[in-house]
Amino acid sequence: MSESDTDTLLPGDPERRHFLEKTTGVVAGAGVAAAAWPFISSMNPSTDILSKATVEIDISKIEVGELKTVEWQGKPIFILSRTDEQISSSQASMGSKIDPQADEERVLRPEWLVVIGLCTHLGCVPTRKPEGWFCPCHGSRYDNSGRVLRGPAPHNLHLLPYYFISDEIILLGETKEQI
Ligand code: FES
Repeated sequence: MSESDTDTLLPGDPERRHFLEKTTGVVAGAGVAAAAWPFISSMNPSTDILSKATVEIDISKIEVGELKTVEWQGKPIFILSRTDEQISSSQASMGSKIDPQADEERVLRPEWLVVIGLCTHLGCVPTRKPEGWFCPCHGSRYDNSGRVLRGPAPHNLHLLPYYFISDEIILLGETKEQI
C-alpha cells in the first residue's frame, strides 16, 4: 500500500478490502491471547475502559523511532514510528516461514506500525529491541513489522482496526467505512 492509501482507498477497493479482512480476522484471534495477558489482572482496568470500543490516540509527540504503548479494549497496543531504515528493511522481506506476510499488508502508512502487543504464543507482552521485539516468556522474536521471526509464537503480532483521523490522530477500533 502506498503512503496515502489510508484516506484515499474507497470502499470496495480490493486493496482496502484485503486490509480490512486481515484486521477483522486477526482481532478475533487475539481474544484468546488477551486472556493470558498478566497486565490485565495487575492493573484491574475498570469495565468502562475494557469495553471502550474506540480510542483516539495523539501521535503528534511520538518521535521517529519511538514506540508508544497504549491500551485498547484491555490490550496493549504498540504504535511504532518507524525510521526509514526500519521501513526499508521491513519492506525488503516477507518475515519468516512461520507466518510470511508483506509489510504493505500490515500497515496503512509505512511510517506507522500499529499492532496488538501480545505475543501470539501465550499472550505475554514482548519487550522492545532495536530489531523488533523479544518475548521474555519463551523467546519468540518479532521484526519491526511485528512479524514473527522465531517461535514458539505461531503467528505475527495481530493487527487491529484503525485509521488516521488526521496526521496527528489515530482512531483505534474502527476502520473508516464504519463511521
Ligand atoms: S508467550 Fe511469548 S514465546 Fe511464549
